[in-house]
Parts: sequence; C-alpha cells; structure tokens
Amino acid sequence: MKHSYALITGASSGIGLEISKILGAKGYNLILVSNQGEVLNELVAEFSEAFKVKVCSIDIDLSKEEAPKEIFDFCVDQQLEVEVLINNAGFFFFGEAVEADPKLAIDLVNLHVRTTSLMCTFFGKQMKQRKKGYILNTSSISAYKDFPGISYYGSSKAYIKSFTRSVRTELKRYGIHVTCLLPGATATNLYDPTIVNIPKAKKWGIMIGADKVARSGIRALFRNRSKVVPGFMTNLMNGFARATPHWLIYLISKRVKYFDNQD
Ligand SMILES: NC(=O)c1ccc[n+]([C@@H]2O[C@H](COP(=O)([O-])OP(=O)(O)OC[C@H]3O[C@@H](n4cnc5c(N)ncnc54)[C@H](OP(=O)(O)O)[C@@H]3O)[C@@H](O)[C@H]2O)c1
Repeated sequence: MKHSYALITGASSGIGLEISKILGAKGYNLILVSNQGEVLNELVAEFSEAFKVKVCSIDIDLSKEEAPKEIFDFCVDQQLEVEVLINNAGFFFFGEAVEADPKLAIDLVNLHVRTTSLMCTFFGKQMKQRKKGYILNTSSISAYKDFPGISYYGSSKAYIKSFTRSVRTELKRYGIHVTCLLPGATATNLYDPTIVNIPKAKKWGIMIGADKVARSGIRALFRNRSKVVPGFMTNLMNGFARATPHWLIYLISKRVKYFDNQD
C-alpha cells in the first residue's frame, strides 16, 4: 500500500493500541504518541518487525498546552506526511465536579478539548492542501446524555462529538474523511480494576473488547461515516440511557455511594 504515516495518540494501550495494529497491518507507517515512553519503545521494535513499516514514537504529555504544536513541528522537521490522524488519548475520573482536583480537571479539558482541536487544525490544514486525509476523533456515548459524576468527562466528549461533526462538514469538499468514534464501556485500562470487574463485565456483554471498537472505528473512517457507536449491546444501552429522564437520574444518583448525598 502507500507509505504515508498514521499518527495515533494514546497508542500505548487499549483502543489506540488496537488501532495502531490495524493501521500497521494496512501498510501505514506509524507515529505512536503517548506518555508511556518505555512501552512506546517496545512497540516501535515490535511493530516495525511485525508489519515491515517505519515506526517512530513521541513520548509526550498531551495535556500540556504546547503538545499539539510540538507534535506537528516534529512531523514537519522529520518530513513525516500524516495521512491518517487518530485523536484517541483520553482519561476518566468519577465524582462531583465541585470535588474535582483542579489540576486533574484542567488536564482532562486540555487533553480532550484543546489537544484534539488543535491537532485537527494543524494536521487538517495540511490534509486540506493535499486534498487527502483521514481524521478519527474518539468521543464516547457519554456525549449523548449529561450524567452526574462525569461532568468533566462527559461534557468534554460532547465537545469532541460536536467539533468533529463541524470539521467534517468543513473538510468534506476537499475529500477528507472526518469521523467520530463513540465507544461505550470497553475493556481497557481506562477503568480502575479495583473498582470495575473487567473480565466479568466483558463476560456479561456489558463491556466489549478494544479490538472490536478499533475495527469499527477504522471501518467507519475509511467508509467516510460521520460517526460510529460500536457494538449491539452498547447501542441498546445507549438508547436506554438517552431515554432516561433527568428526574430518574437524580433519584438514582442519590442512592450512589460515590456522591455526597447531603440534601
Ligand atoms: N474504555 C472505555 O470504556 C471508553 C468508552 C468511551 C470512550 N473511551 C475513550 O477511548 C479513548 C481511549 O481510551 P481507552 O479506553 O483505550 O483507555 P486506555 O487504555 O487508558 O488508553 C488511553 C491512552 O491514552 C494515553 N493518555 C492518557 N492521558 C495522556 C496524556 N496526558 N498524555 C499522553 N497520553 C495520554 C494513555 O496513556 P497512560 O497509560 O499513561 O494513561 C493510553 O495510552 C479515550 O479517549 C477514552 O475516553 C473509552
């Protein structure tokens, strides 16, 4: 196939790792980005051997303000032409917004909102000039409904969903595919295994595998779909969640031990 590059953020684990494998197998050279330097080094060796493509990595904290510009400058300096951009890195924390650690909260907003947006701006502009390119932004089904306990996470993912749809419309006339991936519960390191029983959740069909989510996302991207929610059960649960009225969500939240139920 072609020898263009695919850049994947959050490539060191979960969905990003699976997406990297799929794109490597398709013959794309890979730029693996995350804050896990050692894991990235191992993946560079493993993927260059397995897929016979060029693989490099960028070890960077994607929450920091300069991250998108530093990554873009690196690619320009090294003459790496990014044809596929996967904005996938993300993290999660649960709890009331007023109890949030301000540093963690702003890191999440910077990573999900600032970095995702500016990566689209920098790399999207090059794609527009070349009239070729693919952008996949990872949101979440939490973008569809405003739930308590995930105020920062859910609303930042709603931003990604909305931003992706607008950018898609802007770039469509240049032949660029822009797709939003909206996973439901997926068996990855996003969850604290001391709180969530991942093997059981997967067995009961509540969670799906990262490989399945990655396949759905890449298929939707190359078929130029606007968005994809992977998995039948996820779509079913998403339907129920979206139909749940806020008064019921409030009553349930009053019974959940993680909330400060003083009223
Ligand atoms: N798992 C789910 O149920 C689910 C559902 C909906 C949406 N999503 C979204 O899917 C995406 C991928 O998550 P995942 O489930 O595959 O979780 P994951 O296994 O934890 O992967 C997230 C990746 O992003 C990296 N990352 C996080 N913060 C970073 C930072 N500041 N700088 C650089 N890299 C950073 C992580 O590195 P570290 O290992 O250092 O954290 C990791 O490589 C996220 O955007 C997530 O919000 C996941």
